[in-house]
Amino acid sequence: MANQSNDPVQILSHIHSYAVTQSLVAACHLRLFDQLENEGVTAKQVADAVHSDFDGVRGLLNALVSMGYVQKMGDNTSTLYKNTPLASNFLVTTSAQSLYPYVMIQGQVSYPVQSNYKYAVQEGRPQVQRTFNQGTYFSDIITKDSKKAMGFFASMHSIARVFHCPVVLDNFNFSQYREACDLGSGSGTIGLALSQTYKDSMTVTIYDSPMAIEASMKFMPESSFPGNLTFTKGDMMRDSLPYCNLYVLSHVINMLSDERAAFLLKKVFATMVPGGAILLLETLLNDDMRGPQLAHMLSMGLLAFNGTRQRSGEEVQKLLEGQGFREVQVTRTGTLSDAILATKPLMP
Ligand SMILES: C[S@@+](CC[C@H](N)C(=O)[O-])C[C@H]1O[C@@H](n2cnc3c(N)ncnc32)[C@H](O)[C@@H]1O
Repeated sequence: MANQSNDPVQILSHIHSYAVTQSLVAACHLRLFDQLENEGVTAKQVADAVHSDFDGVRGLLNALVSMGYVQKMGDNTSTLYKNTPLASNFLVTTSAQSLYPYVMIQGQVSYPVQSNYKYAVQEGRPQVQRTFNQGTYFSDIITKDSKKAMGFFASMHSIARVFHCPVVLDNFNFSQYREACDLGSGSGTIGLALSQTYKDSMTVTIYDSPMAIEASMKFMPESSFPGNLTFTKGDMMRDSLPYCNLYVLSHVINMLSDERAAFLLKKVFATMVPGGAILLLETLLNDDMRGPQLAHMLSMGLLAFNGTRQRSGEEVQKLLEGQGFREVQVTRTGTLSDAILATKPLMP
């Protein structure tokens, strides 16, 4: 049920939510959470360490207290600040689960693009050109700038680690599948996790564009590189796909129009061994399109960034069934990644 509050405070809260975003982005930009790890520190110590204005830093620290990322100890004359467990786990740059790269990309890329929503809605087109004066983010910006590319793939790696991998590993048992492909693998984090989880029974191919594959290799553990993991560089819309019985497409078809998504799914279906399965990770809209809010917000972001949108579970099911897939099973997680599993029948 969509929110039907009649309280004008809701409007205040929504219209100022950009300040929530920007406080978090500013804190990450300054690496404030790195300063607040371990023991409590004063605002002056933090300001000195990050070479910033004392009043500015104190204001931001107090804002972060109100947002639940920082805890404040002592009284107003001798105040110490320290991370909450949420910030320690997910915002300190060195944490194994750090979402720092994701926050940075949201601030540097998504936020400016989203400031052009009104044009995206009026024109029904992406706004990367209007925002950055360059065509598309993937083909025109990050291919030409390795630093931006690494930031983008680090961001994908961080959300895959925290949000996507647990959905794949905790909800499904893929031990019956011998050959898997992480198609449109981005940082390759899901493919790596599959190869580690099923190291004795499965070989995994990580498939993406040459640039993405080069970048993803930087996120692989050199010392314990799994022997059952291989990389394929290619264009999944044009080139042949690896012959597998499990394909994982995480946040790939939401980047495609219905026509292109159908084309890719048909191609996967044709290549797949009968009895094989496809797992899609998507942020699903409710079937009645009334929520969840996060999915709708991400859908608006997709429109402005890429000209596409998120789909409902029913819409994804139709897309899959239209290409021949059966036994479509939708698992809603309430997080960034919902899961849709479907199979290719043994008999046509
Ligand atoms: C939104 S990212 C998702 C990455 C990853 N699956 C994840 O969930 O973190 C989409 C990925 O699809 C890849 N991709 C898009 N079009 C492609 C194409 N034609 N051939 C190969 N990869 C493609 C992009 O390079 C990018 O890594």
